[in-house]
Amino acid sequence: MANAADTDARKRAAAEAAAELVEDGMRLGLGTGTTVAHLLPALADRRLRDLRCVATSPETERAASELGLAVEPFDVLSELDLAIDGADQIAPDGWLVKGGGGAHVREKVVAAAAARFVVIADDGKRVQRLGPPVPVELLGFGLEATLAALAALGPGGRARLRPGTAASPDGNLIADVEVPFDDPAELAARLDGIPGVVGHGLFAPSLVTELVVARADEVERSVIG
Ligand code: A5P
Repeated sequence: MANAADTDARKRAAAEAAAELVEDGMRLGLGTGTTVAHLLPALADRRLRDLRCVATSPETERAASELGLAVEPFDVLSELDLAIDGADQIAPDGWLVKGGGGAHVREKVVAAAAARFVVIADDGKRVQRLGPPVPVELLGFGLEATLAALAALGPGGRARLRPGTAASPDGNLIADVEVPFDDPAELAARLDGIPGVVGHGLFAPSLVTELVVARADEVERSVIG
């Protein structure tokens, strides 16, 4: 079992490997989280020319800008060359759970707009199968009804608003759904079918191009799709 320092070193190793994938002139999506926090200085150190970045959270935007990376609002670019982001759980078939930092809706928009989406992580994120909680972003309007619909997704189901994160950058609420599931595609479809759910943290393998996962002794790259 890796300790916190080992885990952080692996996050950095994965992030630094992914920074090498970025080229001059790219339009790049920047994810959110502690692994991406290692990506930003590695990117800045490369001093790439004409790199245009979009950020998935105010935290990433601030950190990237402070390092001198050019961050633009994501309303003028229609597509990105590459997006790089972390994950909370990575299944063997490439399904992901994301949203530990509450940025999963913007992260999915950015990943879907990118020609390549690269996931960076330490090997502690690998799981045999995905499990709860699944982060969701919810409209404030009709919140109690939406929470009840989420709780009804399965036996013992419940949805808990995340304390301390009152609102997403888009003015919505972040919650975690606790419901047992075997098939992430089925749960994703059911979450997509609840009207007050703006988005959820289940990312299908069809979104993912490559995994860059660091172990103690090497950084493993695997192509998903
Ligand atoms: C942010 O909302 C998340 O999707 C992160 O990408 C994910 O939680 C991974 O975060 P860490 O890199 O901090 O583990």
